[in-house]
Amino acid sequence: MKRLKSKWRIAPLVAMMTLLLSGCGSPQLSALMPRGSVASEQLFLIKLSIGIMGLVIVVVAALYFIAIIRFRKRKGQTGYPKQVEGSHKLEIIWTVIPILLLLILAVPTVYYTFLHSTDLRKDPDALQVKVTAHQYWWEFEYTDLGINTAQDLVIPQGKKIALELESADVTHSFWVPSLGGKLDANRGQVTTYYLETDEVDTFLGKCTELCGASHSLMDFKVISKSTADFDAWVEGKKKPVAVAAEAEKGKLLFDSNCLSCHAVEVDKGSFGPNLNNFANRVEIAGVLEHTDENLKEWIKDPTTLKMGNKMPAFKDALQDDEINEIVKYLNSLNNFK
Ligand code: CUA
Repeated sequence: MKRLKSKWRIAPLVAMMTLLLSGCGSPQLSALMPRGSVASEQLFLIKLSIGIMGLVIVVVAALYFIAIIRFRKRKGQTGYPKQVEGSHKLEIIWTVIPILLLLILAVPTVYYTFLHSTDLRKDPDALQVKVTAHQYWWEFEYTDLGINTAQDLVIPQGKKIALELESADVTHSFWVPSLGGKLDANRGQVTTYYLETDEVDTFLGKCTELCGASHSLMDFKVISKSTADFDAWVEGKKKPVAVAAEAEKGKLLFDSNCLSCHAVEVDKGSFGPNLNNFANRVEIAGVLEHTDENLKEWIKDPTTLKMGNKMPAFKDALQDDEINEIVKYLNSLNNFK
């Protein structure tokens, strides 16, 4: 019985470790598996600081055990042991060593911190992207290309992406664990940062500053493409879409109900996410699988699916068949695959 009890005692520990370690696995979402230069340099800093701290723990623990074993009370010993007061040699050693360790830690940390916040906004070789954080979505504006998009940051591989961050409301924080971060997006204050990757993949990004009820749902994606595919994406994005006959009714309903908040033209910013090329979005609002059913549910009552978001519910304002028409229209916004 006793043995069983002691076994159960380690259960919370195992549960905690499982929870902790389960977050370390995905190569699309792990600071421990860097996929770009910024993330690699940040991992180097993590390893350096853990290494130094580990060394300090080992040395201090060793000295502690040496002291309690060597200077323990022996058999027959009475009274106080010899009292030692003041040792210049020891004092110098335990002052100089921490200073050296802090210098080893501080120099690369300060160097990379300044390097990573390099302002590349004037660099002609970098791709310029203005990031605006909203409750609870991300707006990406390619200032040189005239493209405005939401939730998916599409980038070319091997190129520095110059990010200019700002917030439209409260403070958010931009983090793509596999590529680098984090950096706060504040209202009325611009912060700069850059990212780059040589790989072609989809990386997951997170808001990492508590910003309201749906903070945990404020996800986005960084999709890196080969240069040719990226150029094709830019071309496709700008291609005008002719409204299909079966989507015309939906377009009228969309224009009168949704257009005051959402833009569909590629170069326009809007109060809500730009819905250009919506048919090819992987997810709805960054949280729901892209199916007609989910889109209908979203339009009907978006606040139950993403609490506190600013889109009003249309379940009373629109009939079911009207919502169906809008869904048809949105899924016809298909510039390219
Ligand atoms: Cu935005 Cu948390």
